[in-house]
Amino acid sequence: MAINSSMLLLPIVLILAISTTTQAYDPDILTDFITPNASAVDASFFTYTGLSGFYNPNPKNFTVIKASMAEFPALNGQSVSYAVLQFPPAGVNPPHTHPRAAELLVVMLGTLEVGFVDTTNVLYNQTLQVGDMFVFPKGLVHFQYNRNHNQSAIAISAFGSANAGLLSVPKSVFTTGIDDNVLAMSFKTDVPTVQKIELGLGK
Ligand SMILES: *[C@@H]1O[C@H](CO)[C@@H](O)[C@H](O)[C@H]1NC(C)=O
Ligand SMILES: *[C@@H]1O[C@H](CO)[C@@H](O)[C@H](O)[C@H]1NC(C)=O
Ligand SMILES: *[C@@H]1O[C@H](CO)[C@@H](O)[C@H](O)[C@H]1NC(C)=O
Ligand SMILES: *[C@@H]1O[C@H](CO)[C@@H](O)[C@H](O)[C@H]1NC(C)=O
Repeated sequence: MAINSSMLLLPIVLILAISTTTQAYDPDILTDFITPNASAVDASFFTYTGLSGFYNPNPKNFTVIKASMAEFPALNGQSVSYAVLQFPPAGVNPPHTHPRAAELLVVMLGTLEVGFVDTTNVLYNQTLQVGDMFVFPKGLVHFQYNRNHNQSAIAISAFGSANAGLLSVPKSVFTTGIDDNVLAMSFKTDVPTVQKIELGLGK
């Protein structure tokens, strides 16, 4: 079989496509830091004050306050970020993954039940008290739940990426337009049940 130049290019094109679309880690940078304008940078560029109001002992809903590259541009290239998680009594952070980073969570207030599932579908769960730390391995499905119905909970999470990414399992499966028949067959149920779940998620 004759090999033409487009056949030789194909693997290269594929490698480029994979590396630009699915890179699941932060790239190393060849400068000390990345700024939009190096001649205008000062200490305030490396300072973020957006978490200062985080301590809310009575959150109404589960809320996340992020300090990632989008909120804090100096994190670009530094492979780190934070999020503050606030849980009302009985609040839940539904199953989700962060495709680009492990998450290191520490409980600041209340108690939290946390867990993740590995690629063999084994659940690792734990109940954490104030000061306890838990690591969610990179890319694995995980959740947090404040089982206490009287007391709110606050946790801080660090990520090994400036842009860890978030893929919510309920939203990505049930609110993105995947055919109801596909979902009904996949979940071994019927279309009305799928539609009920979609309705509850505000689709
Ligand atoms: C960068 O900042 C300097 C100092 O403030 C300013 O003179 C210059 O115009 C800026 N350049 C750009 C491209 O914004
Ligand atoms: C909080 O949750 C309640 C019901 O659970 C909802 O009506 C309300 O809109 C939510 N508030 C915010 C800010 O999301
Ligand atoms: C782990 O989850 C199970 C339910 O699946 C629950 O009964 C158990 O109490 C949890 N363990 C911890 C330590 O939270
Ligand atoms: C929450 O408070 C109610 C009464 O207000 C009490 O019966 C219940 O045991 C409390 N639950 C927890 C987890 O503290």
